[in-house]
Amino acid sequence: QKDGYDWFMRKEIFEQPKAVADALLGRRGLNGQLALDEMRLSDEDVRDIDKIIIIACGTSFYAGMVAKYAIEHWCRIPVEVELSSEFRYRDPILDNGTLVVAISQSGETADTLQAIRHARVQKSKVLAICNTNGSTIPRESDAVIYTHAGPEIGVASTKGFLTQLVACYLLGLYLAQVRGVKFDDEIARILDQLDGIPAAIESVLADAESVYALARDYVSTKSVLFLGRHAGYPVALEGALKLKELAYIHAEGFAAGELKHGPIALVEEGLPIFCVIPPRGRDQLHEKMISGIQEVRARGARTICLAEEDDELIKPYADTLITLPKVPVLLQPLVATVPLQLFACELATAMGHDVDMPRNLAKSVTVE
Ligand code: M6R
Repeated sequence: QKDGYDWFMRKEIFEQPKAVADALLGRRGLNGQLALDEMRLSDEDVRDIDKIIIIACGTSFYAGMVAKYAIEHWCRIPVEVELSSEFRYRDPILDNGTLVVAISQSGETADTLQAIRHARVQKSKVLAICNTNGSTIPRESDAVIYTHAGPEIGVASTKGFLTQLVACYLLGLYLAQVRGVKFDDEIARILDQLDGIPAAIESVLADAESVYALARDYVSTKSVLFLGRHAGYPVALEGALKLKELAYIHAEGFAAGELKHGPIALVEEGLPIFCVIPPRGRDQLHEKMISGIQEVRARGARTICLAEEDDELIKPYADTLITLPKVPVLLQPLVATVPLQLFACELATAMGHDVDMPRNLAKSVTVE
């Protein structure tokens, strides 16, 4: 049931506050500590981990990229993120100290399934982050964190992605807790920040109409770029993927620092560029992002900046400003992704495309 929405995707975008709340539900034990019931890895297993490799495809891969920033920062364990389709064929170095984390909304993606089979043969432990109870990937894994997003019907992943992010944050905090690398009160503080995210997403959704109006202005655009840094970089990649999938236009995401190494040659008069601006609390990142924006504006780009609501510094550099609620930099993908989903959904609708079933795509990719 679409519940009055035109597309399942739009409905699923608006379900995200609840999906994120559900993904967080029941994760704190009586003593206030984080408890992951379906985790099935002993504390000893967790303490023995010396490397994490995250494998996934598409949007789930971008969740893995965000997870790397968070887990390395909180736990000081090295994290690699790799496309499932590449992982298995490069003879990766694995042993029983390697935790392989497979992220898959459907739990049936063939590339990811083959990759975890390969990892288990090499004696690595495999943890699945998955939305689909009883699907093959969690069944074949040593441990699982379910994302509890509810069924995702639209081919383009939305609430699946945000709840994967939540599961990745919970995993990072859990590892930090068991390994004793963070104080309990620090972990509790981050969990409190996560508890505030559903309301923050609500506030982004409340402004959906202005994003829709913006999208309708771009029906004849041929190309859109997305820039981000740090945890905003995977958000840029995800924004571009949504546009490719749904609007069938050229869209590319870049790490803003890479611009001068090539992509800036693409910039010409009028090119729309979405810029995911890091929170002001991270001034170095913020300054660097502004200098990238100056470079593209000097070459005629039109910037659409996603920035914290009280970010006055960004205003002179934004042709269009989309404001985001204040959240820490590592959690910003949970709010910054939402306007990009709304934009892609509305632009594809205005172009007359089937948003729920884009051409050439399937919801779960069960062939390698
Ligand atoms: O079910 P999975 O998370 O394993 O699927 C991975 C990708 O196929 C999926 O994220 C795809 O990129 C989506 N259509 C993105 O919106």
